[in-house]
Amino acid sequence: MKQNILITGGFGLLGSNLYKFLKQKNYNVFILDKKKNFLKKNYQRLDKKNVFLGDYLDKDLIKKIIVKKKIKVIFHTGAVTQVLDAIDSPEYTYTNNIFGTLNFLEIIRKINKKIIFIYSSSDKAYGEVGKKSYTENTCLNSVFPYDVSKSCSDLICQSYSKTFNLKVGILRCGNLYGPGDFNRNRLINGFIISILKDKIFKIRSSGKLVRDYLFVDDAVQAYYLTMLSLINSNRKLRIYNVGSKYNMNVFGMIKKISKLNKNKKIKIKVLNTSKKEITSQKLNYKKISKELGWKQKVNLDDGLQKTYNWYKEHIHFFKKY
Ligand SMILES: NC(=O)c1ccc[n+]([C@@H]2O[C@H](COP(=O)([O-])OP(=O)(O)OC[C@H]3O[C@@H](n4cnc5c(N)ncnc54)[C@H](O)[C@@H]3O)[C@@H](O)[C@H]2O)c1
Repeated sequence: MKQNILITGGFGLLGSNLYKFLKQKNYNVFILDKKKNFLKKNYQRLDKKNVFLGDYLDKDLIKKIIVKKKIKVIFHTGAVTQVLDAIDSPEYTYTNNIFGTLNFLEIIRKINKKIIFIYSSSDKAYGEVGKKSYTENTCLNSVFPYDVSKSCSDLICQSYSKTFNLKVGILRCGNLYGPGDFNRNRLINGFIISILKDKIFKIRSSGKLVRDYLFVDDAVQAYYLTMLSLINSNRKLRIYNVGSKYNMNVFGMIKKISKLNKNKKIKIKVLNTSKKEITSQKLNYKKISKELGWKQKVNLDDGLQKTYNWYKEHIHFFKKY
């Protein structure tokens, strides 16, 4: 029988695409998210019976959901995810990202250690390492609030798995992009929306920050394969980098996206106001390829085109932009 699955942050970029994928595979999937106005948009025909509008900082609520719905796998994708929000509200970011994660681990430890917990860590958890690329053995050495919230939760997940024998997966992805991202401060969707609305696109950094870029469907595959590996083996802890062959700076990405819209003049302003960010990141992802057979399937041009098309079709969702 297929496992009952809970996705926290199921209205987010990763959670919503993971939800769609698992539904297609006929899993019984539940969402917990606190974004109250989201259902009105209803762009992916959610089954409202399977959606819990609520906050995972409410321990009683999540315990109730896990017990009542007989949850066997939890994908914890919910978090404060915006680097600038985290700098504005470090206390809330630490509370939400660290204590939220801890709530699930404690409940699993107490009620049923067989529940699989898959945590969305990040390449940001490594911080600025200065080497060519991070492997899974690179020390977590972050500095800024979002990054430290990810490193801490990542270590806490490892601690619960190693100390209490919990089955835990930890995925450290590079920058994700794709349809259904409602965050406005991200490079790819922010730039596409600016093009479609004929607005000036403001680059908050110097434009020289380097990142891996991965289409969300490829990340969803990595999460799925990790879940299967935890179900089908006795190994308790799996940690994987999920990187990309597309590693470039902001200007490189802007050039790529600009090509999608040959006819329009594109307006850009470099603000260079954001200094509290890692300058360069690159993940080594040989381990997940070797152990789980994961491959990056979506090439950058196709991924960007799909993303662009989605925003074109749904631009009415972004009225206030
Ligand atoms: N997007 C990326 O580039 C990227 C890269 C690496 C890792 N990650 C990690 O992957 C995960 C998913 O990222 P995303 O881009 O889909 O994020 P997102 O910002 O699109 O979605 C996060 C969701 O979490 C929900 N949420 C936050 N706090 C909550 C709470 N207390 N209770 C209930 N719901 C809550 C929000 O309402 C939102 O819908 C995050 O943990 C993020 O740190 C993202």
